Amino acid sequence: MAFPLSAKDLENEISSLLQTGVGGNVQDFLKWIRMEIQKKFKDEVILSEKDVAEILEKHKAEGNLVSGRFDAREYFLSDDSKFYKKVTSQDKFYILGRLDFSPMQYVKTRLEYFLRRNGVDEEEIIDIGIATVEAVENAAKYGDGSSVEVEYSIDRSKTFHISLLNNIKEFDLEEDIKRGKFSSTATLMRGMMVMQKLFNQVDLEILDDKKQASFKAKRILQSQ
Ligand SMILES: Nc1ncnc2c1ncn2[C@@H]1O[C@H](COP(=O)(O)OP(=O)(O)O)[C@@H](O)[C@H]1O
Ligand SMILES: [Mg+2]
Repeated sequence: MAFPLSAKDLENEISSLLQTGVGGNVQDFLKWIRMEIQKKFKDEVILSEKDVAEILEKHKAEGNLVSGRFDAREYFLSDDSKFYKKVTSQDKFYILGRLDFSPMQYVKTRLEYFLRRNGVDEEEIIDIGIATVEAVENAAKYGDGSSVEVEYSIDRSKTFHISLLNNIKEFDLEEDIKRGKFSSTATLMRGMMVMQKLFNQVDLEILDDKKQASFKAKRILQSQ
């Protein structure tokens, strides 16, 4: 049964989200709090958009968040935010692969934060961000909505590695044919093509016995 969060718990949920480096608008934060509660308690949470907006505005007034560069309604960490954590060369977490939890924005902004903290230049961050959104979209679209494991790192030879693991939704071949997947060449593999272009190596392995998809990619960094 859906339950509300105390003011303190809501504050803590938002702080721990901010510490991961994610950024987005109030709606994104609402979705991510719902996702975190679903992960922890397998339950729905009753949230007020106003409460969430107030906490984000308070952090902004205190100088820990700033408005997004491209969208003023988005919140990102300021350069000297108290939410900054120690720089690491690896990040590993899981999300729930449901589009209503805004998983693409979550992984993209968390990853961008990681790359920026590791000194990767903005152009490469943009490329990696675009390619990663395609991979996360696939994990959510073709996954069964349960957990998606995400892991990325930068190794000593300055190569960026990313992997995603999702359970595959029981798919309906009829449906796929109807929506043109196997007949139209226009959209077929478009996402994979984008990823091929922006990563140096891309592998998608379907683990039939486990009904899982394992995605792995790497990009040799020029900057850093
Ligand atoms: N994470 C994944 N889980 C299961 N199947 C996937 C996954 N990623 C890709 N696929 C399969 O590979 C195909 C190609 O993906 P993509 O190039 O992004 O095209 P699209 O998403 O437009 O179908 C998908 O249609 C899907 O069948
Ligand atoms: Mg796709």
